[in-house]
Amino acid sequence: MRSHYCGHLNTSHLDQEITLCGWVHRRRDHGGVIFIDLRDREGLAQIVFDPDRAESFAIADAVRNEYVLKITGKVRNRPEGTINPDLPTGEIEVLGYEIEILNSAKTPPLQMDDDNVHDDVKLKYRYVDLRRSEMQRNMKLRAEITRAMRSFLDDNGFLEIETPMLTRATPEGARDYLVPSRTHPGQFFALPQSPQLFKQLLMMSGMDRYYQIVRCFRDEDLRADRQPEFTQLDIETSFMDEEAIMAIMEKMMITLFKDALDIDLPSPIPRITYADAMHRFGTDRPDFRNPLELVDVSDVMAEVEFKVFSGPAKMDNGRVAALRLPAGSELSRKDIDGYTDFVANYGAKGLAYIKVNDVAAGTEGLQSPILKFLPDNVVATIIERTQAENGDLIFFGADKTRIVNDALGALRDKLAEDRNLYTSEWQPVWVVDFPMFDYNEDEKRWDALHHPFTAPHVDEISELEADPGNALSRAYDMVLNGTELGGGSIRIHKPEMQRSVLKLLGIEDQEADDKFGFLINALDYGCPPHGGIAFGLDRLIMLMVGADSIRDVIAFPKTQTAACLLTEAPTPASPRQLKELGIKLAKPAKEEESKPAAE
Ligand code: AMO
Ligand code: AMP
Repeated sequence: MRSHYCGHLNTSHLDQEITLCGWVHRRRDHGGVIFIDLRDREGLAQIVFDPDRAESFAIADAVRNEYVLKITGKVRNRPEGTINPDLPTGEIEVLGYEIEILNSAKTPPLQMDDDNVHDDVKLKYRYVDLRRSEMQRNMKLRAEITRAMRSFLDDNGFLEIETPMLTRATPEGARDYLVPSRTHPGQFFALPQSPQLFKQLLMMSGMDRYYQIVRCFRDEDLRADRQPEFTQLDIETSFMDEEAIMAIMEKMMITLFKDALDIDLPSPIPRITYADAMHRFGTDRPDFRNPLELVDVSDVMAEVEFKVFSGPAKMDNGRVAALRLPAGSELSRKDIDGYTDFVANYGAKGLAYIKVNDVAAGTEGLQSPILKFLPDNVVATIIERTQAENGDLIFFGADKTRIVNDALGALRDKLAEDRNLYTSEWQPVWVVDFPMFDYNEDEKRWDALHHPFTAPHVDEISELEADPGNALSRAYDMVLNGTELGGGSIRIHKPEMQRSVLKLLGIEDQEADDKFGFLINALDYGCPPHGGIAFGLDRLIMLMVGADSIRDVIAFPKTQTAACLLTEAPTPASPRQLKELGIKLAKPAKEEESKPAAE
């Protein structure tokens, strides 16, 4: 129907007769001349209708926003003074000859250039929302990136292989989405939280290098970077160790950023151990753009009189840490109270601070509500260790290590954000040497920090079992600007080790056989050493386009309560469907008021 995209027109098309199809972005009546900005996926073009062509003029006069039109006309230069340098097509316009209304449109529920539309409206009318140039750009970049991923992986000998969606539970730490089976009444499939077990089986099948751009399902609390269904770039290889896997993945990521955005990521990508990351940044996904660091002062606080500090300093699982904010002494009482409330969200019971006015003046040069509790030599050590300078402020956290890390880790991000402290734009980092296990206080057993198929550093089962708390895993995460982009590991490839790890996780042999028997069996039939990684595609695109939420890079995302406002899913099943599935509801499905209304 058309000869060109609106957004592609430029001076090279001058004097050509062209045909465009698209949506009315804006229509203006300028003293007897009608201007229509016609929009398609590639951009906008300005079409002019003058009254000389009476029939077309009358139609142009009648169209409204979001009508779908087909227009034929001739490309010409815009008159002097009306050139729009902000628009790629801003040097030209089209003199309209013919205009056909392909479809009319109701007044759109949201304006294309209104930034303040409520999210619920956007999601209910997602097909209109997706017409916005920002969304079109996001979707295009997403397509470009998946194309580039496929091309890189194809060039490196990876095979794209699909794995089942109707399957058994894969333990990645979230709740499963279950699908009832009609042919096996009372039984359920689980939608995959990841293709973890299948990709390992593919290595046992001799596929050598696998990848898949694959939907994963996790019923977990949603956040800006979490959706109940999301997409992974999932990868697995045989006969490669962690160094080789990290090297090739790093090359892929650097290539994607260079080719799609012309951004040079640091090469090699720096690495940090989990222990260091927790110690210096309070988190296992440190934002390396942020220059602030936590400094440990537990040792010097152990003997002070101030119980708030000496208590945690003496505890095995306690910590006292300092966070220096350069030029922070300009913070007002109100600012500090605000940050105190902020850290309270992470369980911190307070936020002590010292303002450093004059280092040379010793204690005299400092200002703080806790100074009276701290001996001079302790204060001197703090100043020295934090390398505080005149005008700085030092915050303190004292509590269980987890709380101090969470609170000061989050405060570190907040301060960088509020005071624009970032020193660079893009900072990827590999986090390595994760612990194998995390102790679950409630259930008095170990949890896998990654997943139960991750190999430990030690080869001997006896060594692992002797001290599981200190065992490190062969796992690695890629973090970009403080967001966990991907994670993977070398896997266990010996059945005895797999059983031992499952046992440490509280999964005894019988249960292990019931749940993962197929995997453990497969390890017995010639399993190569193997490992892999999965990247969150939505998160990657979110960072690349600078969006605040992965919702902005998913065509049809779900709401906070995991519902789809467009289709109104989920919906109750009909009595007949339930009967076929052998399902009786404990409570009848109610017409939901809880589902957010659209307007
Ligand atoms: P993991 O659970 O770390 O590893 O997931 C890999 C990556 O997927 C992304 N991600 C999500 N993105 C959006 N919404 C979610 N709810 C969500 N959950 C995870 C993150 C994360 O880094 N099978 C292993 C990988 C492996 O060991 O190879 C796995 O799934 O970016
Ligand atoms: P208080 O003795 O409770 O008045 O506290 C004195 C100072 O220590 C205040 O600035 C509190 O914000 C701070 N504070 C109290 N508890 C903690 C804690 N657990 N970690 C860090 N600072 C704290």
